[in-house]
Amino acid sequence: MSQLDVVSLTRQFGGLTAVKDLSFSVSPGAIAGLVGPNGAGKTTVINMVSGIDKPTSGTISIAGQDTSTIKGHEFVRLGIARTYQNMKMFHGLSVIDHVIVGLDSRRKTTFFHALVPNPIERKERAAMRDKAMEFLKVMSIDHLAESEATTLPYGLQRRLEIARALATEPKLLLLDEPTAGMNQQESSEVAEVLRGLNQKGLTLLVVEHNIKFVRDLCQEVTVINFGEKLLSGTPQEVFNSQLVREAYLGKQRDERLATFQSLRAGTHRNINMGEFAS
Ligand SMILES: Nc1ncnc2c1ncn2[C@@H]1O[C@H](COP(=O)(O)OP(=O)(O)OP(=O)(O)O)[C@@H](O)[C@H]1O
Ligand SMILES: [Mg+2]
Repeated sequence: MSQLDVVSLTRQFGGLTAVKDLSFSVSPGAIAGLVGPNGAGKTTVINMVSGIDKPTSGTISIAGQDTSTIKGHEFVRLGIARTYQNMKMFHGLSVIDHVIVGLDSRRKTTFFHALVPNPIERKERAAMRDKAMEFLKVMSIDHLAESEATTLPYGLQRRLEIARALATEPKLLLLDEPTAGMNQQESSEVAEVLRGLNQKGLTLLVVEHNIKFVRDLCQEVTVINFGEKLLSGTPQEVFNSQLVREAYLGKQRDERLATFQSLRAGTHRNINMGEFAS
């Protein structure tokens, strides 16, 4: 059984079809990639898989369970967590309290109980802090626990974003551009951390523009363009495909669309692109 099964997924916004008849799967224990040019529909897919948006049609199953009747806030109990392309950090809140928010979604004590000094809650709050600190350690930002999150450099905020998602103890973690704004060194470090998490059993679906990152990290990749699947395969298969190359390299949107449609109508050949986009 797949960890994630997306079947004929479509999302329309008024007249715009952001995702069209898209099907792909993520195997349990895999590191999967979802890539495509700007506006391809990647975030829209992540929004639907994480339950903050609903499909116009099609189905999403998580570990075999159809999610169509599941409410957004219940997705965390299915083992889904995500990070955001545009991070949402709260002003005035420390790094560790951001992770406690994540822990809170699985506990009876509310986040605000946990923050307000209250003798009855003190023990549980101490336990939550210890637990939160573990996730900060995983992301190597435990020394910044008491810093205000919004004052962290961008790369460290992205690490915090992952720590916060891990605090819900997911089985499938969706990462929307985890290395955006990072240099090569920082990206490699994040790749290393994600590999470690994967080795401990976490399944990952990573949306990224950084092709080198996807090549190095992912075992299976789905490429979408204009909301439709171009192809799925190993990184080598997809990044050696002319279809994918054209999807990325076309200059104007109309030009890309025309090339895409003509390529799609015929058979595409694989070409050796060397270090495409690396
Ligand atoms: N809530 C919305 N209302 C209307 N249109 C939307 C909405 N969300 C996304 N879109 C449109 O759907 C299309 C796909 O957007 P999406 O953000 O999913 O792309 P993306 O692949 O994540 O792009 P990027 O690489 O730039 O992050 C775009 O044309 C976008 O403008
Ligand atoms: Mg996006």
